[in-house]
Amino acid sequence: MSEEQFKNVISHAKEYGFVFPSSEIYDGLAAVYDYGQNGVELKKNIRDYWWKSMVQLHENIVGLDASIFMAPQVWKASGHIDGFSDPMIDNKDSKKRYRADVLVEEYQEKYRVKNQKEIEKASKRFGADFDEAQFVATNPNIVRNKEKIAEIDSKLKAGLESGDLHKVKELIEELGIVCPVSGSKNWTEVRQFNLMYSTQMSATDGESQIYLRPETAQGIFVNYLNVQKSGRMKLPFGIAQTGKAFRNEIVARQFIMRMKEFEQMEMQFFVKPGTEMEWYAYWKEHRLKWHTNLGTDTVKYRYHDHVKLAHYANAAVDIEYDFPFGFKEVEGIHSRTDFDLKQHEKFAGKKLQYYDNEKNESFVPYVVETSIGLDRMFLVLMCNALQEEQLEDGQTRILLKLPPALAPYQCAILPLVKKDGLPELARKIMGDLSLDFNCYYEEKDSIGKRYRRQDAIGTPFCITIDHDSVTNQSVTIRYRDTMEQKRVKIGELEAIITQEVSMKKLLKGLV
Ligand code: GAP
Repeated sequence: MSEEQFKNVISHAKEYGFVFPSSEIYDGLAAVYDYGQNGVELKKNIRDYWWKSMVQLHENIVGLDASIFMAPQVWKASGHIDGFSDPMIDNKDSKKRYRADVLVEEYQEKYRVKNQKEIEKASKRFGADFDEAQFVATNPNIVRNKEKIAEIDSKLKAGLESGDLHKVKELIEELGIVCPVSGSKNWTEVRQFNLMYSTQMSATDGESQIYLRPETAQGIFVNYLNVQKSGRMKLPFGIAQTGKAFRNEIVARQFIMRMKEFEQMEMQFFVKPGTEMEWYAYWKEHRLKWHTNLGTDTVKYRYHDHVKLAHYANAAVDIEYDFPFGFKEVEGIHSRTDFDLKQHEKFAGKKLQYYDNEKNESFVPYVVETSIGLDRMFLVLMCNALQEEQLEDGQTRILLKLPPALAPYQCAILPLVKKDGLPELARKIMGDLSLDFNCYYEEKDSIGKRYRRQDAIGTPFCITIDHDSVTNQSVTIRYRDTMEQKRVKIGELEAIITQEVSMKKLLKGLV
């Protein structure tokens, strides 16, 4: 998908009521977006798919809904007050600010793309005899590019880990990276900027500064013992939560990819120390399966192991999706050791130990975290689903090929004409189907136009009620992807639609 097609995703999202710029009548607010009537349904369905896959399908995972506001000490303990910052660099000519590490990573990506192209070319040349592993290990261009990537990695890591940010600036200069806006290399020094928003808890007390949570995870950590004790949970067990998080991100026109207010779906899995790598491997595999189970081509996903581990992690990987602007993180899986719980023990002065009554011993559990951005997942689905199809009659149709269980509407009820008892029968069908599905009712315009509108919002089924329907209780059902039309009895509709759109069908792919 090209940049041009990404622009189409953004305009489609707006035109069809998925995503609007926030406060648009006031010219919008940078990196803040609102979800429209279709977007809110798609978002809810993604959240449901995640929640059910985590909580409903794992008897040892329970949910939580912690507040956005938390005691300010939480963020001191978690390290966010002192360390939740990004290395930023400004271009003096365009006055644009960038994440220095992202500029470097984007530069490296060019070498990865070059290698991929070499592999594709060779694969075509050698056909069935192609041995990719051998080619990657021996082709001089690929080997050179990989060495270059590794060299840049190690220089970036040295600068970031030592805190000597001048080294990062030197690396940017050495690589000749230019500002995408001004095209110049006129950079400032690299500086750290904290990403947390703060506000006042009380109107009268100027001292009571609190923060808008930058991740939902800490709400889980501070409640872990409440949940464990009240739920009589035994290790290993997980706590899942979805909710808003806030970060003062510096963003570069990537729509809902990186926002200042966004939603996370996080799960902390508490395990016995020493078993964390086993669970890390489990969640790494299980989470990728959750993504590919949606029918997305597996080549669109890849793992990206972290080069620079956060100080609290002993393993970390991102699940990346091939967005129009390259592979980028959608989800992170981190083995966070006992860092967070131990920090809260220290700062709160309370014991957060788990008592193992079989072994009669107490200890602080280790944690494996899965953390995915709901908005970013929304973007994955929109990018993946939006297609322009060439039809046999020479026309084109815009199709949003969303996984049927996640589509905003499962079916549209369309009386052919607005008279002769057709709307009345359509309303009756709508009344029955609405108990199970989100149904869209429309009687305006030609049937062809109405089909096209449903294709564009991803509705898997259109049900057309015509004159014969009144006499023989049958309707035409049209399948979104194939445009196939079938005559079926009204009484069969529920079973036909359920078969395709049920969350059960989707969840079955995970067990
Ligand atoms: N508790 C761990 C944590 O918050 P993270 O990698 O900073 O880890 C997890 O965030 C996920 O949240 C990311 O993989 C991404 O999908 C999403 N995310 C992070 N920052 C975001 C932003 N500014 N806008 C949209 N999604 C974001």
